[in-house]
Amino acid sequence: MDTIRQRFAVSYEYPVVFTRNVFDPSNPSLATVLEGQPDGVPHRALVYIDEGFLDAWPDVPRQMGAYLAAHAGAVQLTHPPETVPGGEHAKNGWNVVQNIMRNIGNQRLCRHSFVIAIGGGSTLDMVGFAASIVHRGLRLVRIPTTVLAQGDAGVGVKNGMDEHGMKNYVGSFAPPVAVINDYTFLRTLPDRYWFGGTAEAFKVAMIKDAGFFDALCEGAPALGARRPGTIEPVVRKTAQLHLDHIRTSGDPFEFGAARPLDFGHWAAHKLEVLSNYTLSHGEAVAVGIALDTRYATLSGLLNEVDCDRLMTAFAQIGLPVYSPLLKRTLPDGELEIFAGLEEFREHLGGQLTVTLPDGIGNGVEVHDMDAARIKDAIGYLAEWGSDED
Ligand SMILES: NC(=O)c1ccc[n+]([C@@H]2O[C@H](COP(=O)([O-])OP(=O)(O)OC[C@H]3O[C@@H](n4cnc5c(N)ncnc54)[C@H](O)[C@@H]3O)[C@@H](O)[C@H]2O)c1
Ligand SMILES: [Zn+2]
Repeated sequence: MDTIRQRFAVSYEYPVVFTRNVFDPSNPSLATVLEGQPDGVPHRALVYIDEGFLDAWPDVPRQMGAYLAAHAGAVQLTHPPETVPGGEHAKNGWNVVQNIMRNIGNQRLCRHSFVIAIGGGSTLDMVGFAASIVHRGLRLVRIPTTVLAQGDAGVGVKNGMDEHGMKNYVGSFAPPVAVINDYTFLRTLPDRYWFGGTAEAFKVAMIKDAGFFDALCEGAPALGARRPGTIEPVVRKTAQLHLDHIRTSGDPFEFGAARPLDFGHWAAHKLEVLSNYTLSHGEAVAVGIALDTRYATLSGLLNEVDCDRLMTAFAQIGLPVYSPLLKRTLPDGELEIFAGLEEFREHLGGQLTVTLPDGIGNGVEVHDMDAARIKDAIGYLAEWGSDED
């Protein structure tokens, strides 16, 4: 046997900026990350904008053009900003991804060129995925415009799209060169996405930070009323906890089976598919968290008081805790949602690993979920759900 053992480490670093008015020429955030080439020739760049975002911010392409003109030398847009459909449906299948890949080629971008993606998590996932596979990866700058994307989807190292009847079936790990979160953009976000984004904050708080969970529960009525100034610290803290996890977990590219930040997600991903994506990711995550929280309580991991605090906070914010899809059955009488466990296991690899709250602020990994207990938890949520109506 003759083996050469290969080993090397690569370190990644990228800024996650929190700012306002990113396209104001006096704001240095974007210009700072778009460094020109050593010979002074600007890098080529393409911009993709989420259509739903553009409807709310129609002046952004013009502002961006003026911004880049004021910072000439860093990048040169080879084409006016392109629009991509916003929302989960843009992630369903290859169409939009292929268009972006071809466009990048037609515009003769190289591996040092920039792709700037502006929009919600769906747009960022899908544009980021296309950018990560052309020439094996261009430089991606994300400008997230939703609560969920600024705190979660836009700040990490994953891209993807839905295929083969599964969420994020296809995708890549590819850290961005920068993330710029502009809080101003959140103002126009429709309620369901604004509230839905807070579900990911509860997710990370329950598993990692009891103080943050307390703050979220106390702030729930103000969050539900979209009171000014309430969402920014939630976004900032959620992003911070995600970034801390990616940096310190020892497994940024998820080679292991443990995924604490996927608390509540085995059911969430299945619910999104079962609903034909009419449930948003944030809404599905809220239901998934509620389900696994009740399951944890029935398992003796969490007390009734803390379970109740979560349900109450969700009600105050307007997040769902139940969907009738949880009770949908197959012809053999089995709940359809159960298939989500095996799909989740396959997606993560290895042994089934579900993170449950172990008290507030701590997670515990379990490798088996009891079907009868899941049914009990669903029954409890159905009652909570009907109380809210
Ligand atoms: N890559 C990751 O690590 C990761 C993590 C979590 C979630 N995700 C993915 O993120 C996606 C969900 O993202 P999302 O919650 O941002 O929803 P979304 O991207 O689907 O956007 C929701 C809607 O809001 C519109 N929109 C975006 N910004 C707006 C604004 N400022 N004003 C008005 N409308 C605006 C969009 O056009 C869309 O219609 C899911 O596909 C999920 O799987 C990815
Ligand atoms: Zn999520």
